[in-house]
Amino acid sequence: MTKIKVMTVFGTRPEAIKMAPLVLKLKDNPNFDEVTVVSAQHREMLDQVLQIFKIIPDYDFDIMKQNQTLEEITAKVMIDLAKVIKQENPDLVLVHGDTTTSFAASLASFYEQTTIGHVEAGLRTWQKYSPFPEEMNRQMTDDLADLYFAPTKLSKANLLQENHPAKNIFITGNTAIDALEQTIQQDYHHEVLDTVNPDHKIILVTMHRRENQGEPMKRVFRVMKQVVDSHPDVEIIYPVHLSPRVQEAAHEILDNDPRIHLIAPLDVVDFHNLAKRSYFIMTDSGGVQEEAPSLNKPVLVLRDTTERPEGVKAGTLKLVGTEVSKVKSAMLDLLENQASYEEMANAQNPYGDGHAAERILADILYYFSKQKGQRPIDFG
Ligand code: UD1
Ligand code: UDP
Repeated sequence: MTKIKVMTVFGTRPEAIKMAPLVLKLKDNPNFDEVTVVSAQHREMLDQVLQIFKIIPDYDFDIMKQNQTLEEITAKVMIDLAKVIKQENPDLVLVHGDTTTSFAASLASFYEQTTIGHVEAGLRTWQKYSPFPEEMNRQMTDDLADLYFAPTKLSKANLLQENHPAKNIFITGNTAIDALEQTIQQDYHHEVLDTVNPDHKIILVTMHRRENQGEPMKRVFRVMKQVVDSHPDVEIIYPVHLSPRVQEAAHEILDNDPRIHLIAPLDVVDFHNLAKRSYFIMTDSGGVQEEAPSLNKPVLVLRDTTERPEGVKAGTLKLVGTEVSKVKSAMLDLLENQASYEEMANAQNPYGDGHAAERILADILYYFSKQKGQRPIDFG
């Protein structure tokens, strides 16, 4: 039987974390010939993930530069990927989510008339600039895609609303949960925990989105500092994204407090295990919103909109934005009101069961008519 040649393309930390389970499964399966391509839109933060999952890319465009623009990323990815597609002639290009690498890779694949599969398809806020540029990146990627791997029923419904063909939409769960199942360790220790009082409550923070950079981010950091100052049993661990604008704001406001630990980005094993040991999480990240419910951690989402409303509905995420009063009262509620805390911590995870990558492989085989019998069963 001829193998299906699948080219996986990704460039940033979250794409790598969520594509890794899929890359490994594709490499292991005799029906597929897998080619890994990284744009390296991120460098250090991508390499951390590649190392953990022991993935050696076949092609590495190494495009990252300091304070890169969206136009630069788009142009470089398109030009480099077109050459590789011509050389490798894949049956399918798989992209993930909503980064500029994902969109540019989809556009290049379309220009090369290559079939495109979108992993984590169908997430929407329906607001052009929120998050920016991710909402339009994912909408445009879905416009170009042929095969859709929607993580939830709601993401499938969003795709149907845009008239994408039902027969090509598969509900798979999110591969983030597959990755999480490989990283959590019972006897985990990290050196930052040596500097935290074991009786204290840890708030784990991540914040990096373009629309939050500048004043919104600084506002939130000032609130965090006030809450730590007024609660002697609270400490913050914040692995700061390497974006220079984020680094600058975090260090300007949060430096020099013994109970606020600004550290380098963690590798994914460290991040997941520290998340498990935290009391709650504050983030504007997309992926963290999907993972935290699996770890029974409440999440305050530092954004005005979310493309992940399933978690809000389930009660595990609270959308608090970046306004001072809302962020502060949400933090105080979780720290001081045990009932509110328990309600959020014990909500069900709607995002996956750890088998998303397996489903995606079965769906690809079915699409390329190599799977005899029925259409594979959807998640949920
Ligand atoms: C990108 C994605 C965003 C995703 C985020 C995950 C786009 C437009 N944005 O945003 O959707 O949520 O990744 O983290 O695709 N940098 C380093 N080393 C690294 C990574 C970044 O130094 O390993 C610095 C560089 O100066 C770089 C800057 O961070 O220019 C910004 O990186 P970029 O990928 O453009 O934006 P992110 O905010 O990381
Ligand atoms: N993450 C990590 N190290 C960190 C912070 C986050 O490995 O220091 C992981 C996290 O578990 C999640 C992913 O990175 O899987 C989220 O990536 P990010 O927040 O950069 O991007 P987004 O999800 O917002 O696109």
